[in-house]
Amino acid sequence: MTITVIGAGYVGLVTASVFAELGNKVFCVDIDEVKIANLKKGIVPFYEPSLGEYISRNINEKRLFFTNSYGQSVPKSQIVFICVGTPPKENGEANLTYLFSAVEEAAKNLKGYTLITIKSTIPIGFEDDLEALVKKYAKTKYEFASSPEFLREGTAISDSLHPDRIIIGTNSKKAEKMLLELHAPLPGERIICDMRSAQLIKYASNSFLAAKISFANALATICERTGADVTKVVQGVGADKRIGHSYLYPGVGYGGSCLPKDVLAFIAQTRNFDYDFELLRAVDAINNGQVASLVNKVRQSLNLTEKQGKNLAGVEIAVLGLAFKPNTDDMRDAPSIKIINSFQDLGAKVTAYDPKANEAAKKILPDIKYSDDLYEAISNKDLMVIVTEWPEFAEIDLEKAKKLLKKPVIVDGRNIFDAKKVRALGFSYTGVGR
Ligand SMILES: NC(=O)c1ccc[n+]([C@@H]2O[C@H](COP(=O)([O-])OP(=O)(O)OC[C@H]3O[C@@H](n4cnc5c(N)ncnc54)[C@H](O)[C@@H]3O)[C@@H](O)[C@H]2O)c1
Repeated sequence: MTITVIGAGYVGLVTASVFAELGNKVFCVDIDEVKIANLKKGIVPFYEPSLGEYISRNINEKRLFFTNSYGQSVPKSQIVFICVGTPPKENGEANLTYLFSAVEEAAKNLKGYTLITIKSTIPIGFEDDLEALVKKYAKTKYEFASSPEFLREGTAISDSLHPDRIIIGTNSKKAEKMLLELHAPLPGERIICDMRSAQLIKYASNSFLAAKISFANALATICERTGADVTKVVQGVGADKRIGHSYLYPGVGYGGSCLPKDVLAFIAQTRNFDYDFELLRAVDAINNGQVASLVNKVRQSLNLTEKQGKNLAGVEIAVLGLAFKPNTDDMRDAPSIKIINSFQDLGAKVTAYDPKANEAAKKILPDIKYSDDLYEAISNKDLMVIVTEWPEFAEIDLEKAKKLLKKPVIVDGRNIFDAKKVRALGFSYTGVGR
């Protein structure tokens, strides 16, 4: 098949590469000229394991093409995937400006029957507005489908090649057949439904994952007050196959470009349908509380003098990990941003180290120091704070770290260390929920 993927971001690039890898001819369109010029040379705009190899291979095999022109790609395509961003507005609702402009441009360039498939996460009910927009411009027959994306950054290619499920939301038999055929080489359960149900599946899935994380964080708080160990509690709870271990872990709270925005957008949408999703409001509130909780732990672990009070003036903090999770350099809604802002508000000086996200973070957190070396980052600091669970942090030489730090203090926001072992080495150690 010949397909066009609109939006060369995380979802668009992975979708385009995987469909090209499966033997289709794929055009990937973006309005960003620099991004497209770089992609033509095989330069990927962000860090995502093995994505670069997939892009280069498929460019060389002449199955994957990058362009800024809708006119060069959409008329030749049987399916057009919309993969542009739907970031949050101030009030939590999804900003659909990019979506409407992408769909309008696509509509103007349709030639012959085309299936417009929405992969972006869009609120329930907006398919009617999109349909009206396309009707205004299209001079040809078209149909709509919704096929939400579930990839996780850091494992995006593998997730797309081995999906748990493929959602095909459409009321057209022809569209259903085309999408089934396109996805035929991929494993996973096929769920055929209407567009609204497809969109709801996406919001409900992300909200449920966020709820599992907030549940684990609430358990961690109870463990801290009762002396129980949350790592054992979630191990025991998650061993029940009905519950499962995945996403049932405490930390500094969920972040990234999806969970926070989708939880807020789902709350906002359900309000429009006259339902107050109290459960999700609590999920969001617990998540926000994790930052304050970590900052409190830093204060407590430093045994601040009466004179210092709650202030962190003069305290030098090494923050290890900036990206919202390991194996990505994505800083969108990363918990590190709020955490570092809080440290700075209290007067602390921050030096940060992330194996991949230092450059991306500089644009968002310009007033802190960055180090390209983990040991240099912790050298002469009052304590080190683990914010992202990069595997290399768990391998840190703790004897060396103890000599380099001014004080042997660790606040571990991700429970990457064995608390007993670290304390036996003479560290003051504070984890989450133990
Ligand atoms: N990132 C994820 O892990 C993930 C996972 C599942 C679903 N999603 C959803 O997928 C959608 C895309 O997310 P993303 O992270 O890939 O976004 P992104 O911000 O990484 O990429 C969006 C791209 O769209 C381009 N764009 C904007 N307007 C355009 C237009 N009119 N025409 C052509 N290109 C245009 C931008 O230049 C950008 O390159 C969102 O709705 C998101 O919620 C994201």
